[in-house]
Amino acid sequence: MTTSSLYEKVGNTPLVSIRMEEFDQLNLFVKLEAYNPTGSVKDRAAAYMLRKLLASGTIDKETTIIESTSGNFGVALSAFCRYYGLKFIAVVDPNITSMNQMLIESNGAEVVKVTKPDKHGGYLLTRIEKVTELKEAIANSYWINQYENPLNARAYYDSLGKEICFQVEEIDYVFLGVSSGGTITGVSKKIKENFPDAKIVAVDVEGSRIFDQPAKKRFIPGIGSSMVPGILQHATIDEVVMVDELSTINACYELLEKHGFFVGGSSGSVLAGIRKFFSDRQMEGSVHAVSVFPDRGERYFDTIYNKEWCDKVKRFKEEERLSLTNVL
Ligand SMILES: Cc1ncc(COP(=O)(O)O)c(C=O)c1O
Repeated sequence: MTTSSLYEKVGNTPLVSIRMEEFDQLNLFVKLEAYNPTGSVKDRAAAYMLRKLLASGTIDKETTIIESTSGNFGVALSAFCRYYGLKFIAVVDPNITSMNQMLIESNGAEVVKVTKPDKHGGYLLTRIEKVTELKEAIANSYWINQYENPLNARAYYDSLGKEICFQVEEIDYVFLGVSSGGTITGVSKKIKENFPDAKIVAVDVEGSRIFDQPAKKRFIPGIGSSMVPGILQHATIDEVVMVDELSTINACYELLEKHGFFVGGSSGSVLAGIRKFFSDRQMEGSVHAVSVFPDRGERYFDTIYNKEWCDKVKRFKEEERLSLTNVL
């Protein structure tokens, strides 16, 4: 079937089976979200939110869309804003990769880069300040605000969650990486409606503040957050598994070398999270699990798939471990 609409190409991503050698009773199915038009799960949120906002009259063709994002959401929003003929400003910081900046700009969006670190040494607060400033200065502008906007979660309830329920017959566990919380909030609601006994397991990386863990310097883009997303209060989460970033890197290489999946960092985190979760549990009979690989590896050539970068992260982690050992 041919279709002229980019919107119609969002979702319906492949579901593949992965066997983890050490867990022979585990039937793991994974949605490959790189098959979305701009290459990530965030197409679902960008396309859905803009469509709903236009349909409700909250925004119109003259509205300037603003969002603080330097990752997949920025790329997805830039593509779908162009598709809908909307102006888009992405507020980013110096940590943006050159690849993402190029992708966003290629889609005709404006990139506004903040350079002053906030009081925590990061850029989150400076970016929010800049968004507020732009919102006030530009008449008819709209801040998407993925961390607070219920439409972000709704997008995943209506698409990814629905697809999983349709494609999978039995579900005992669902493992999902968390950043803005949109995926897990929407998917958990849909799964619980259809598979009430299924357990939702959130996967986050050490150093992220989402699940009340101590803040630490983080390197892996796309997963974790330095603040607790507001929309997460509507998620149903049964358990949380925290993974360290070196396990994430190793899992990315394992997925490539053993399974042939060239995926982004959060996919590695999810695999590492599944391994950690089941490592001290007895499986009785077959266990059915579903997960999501949010994007593909190309956007991580400067990071995860760059040997020098990996060595730098390893050295940093080793120094961090030694300094903690000295304190104890
Ligand atoms: C690569 C990647 N993985 C996972 C996520 C997490 O998704 P969510 O923001 O819906 O929690 C994102 C979100 O940007 C992402 O870019």
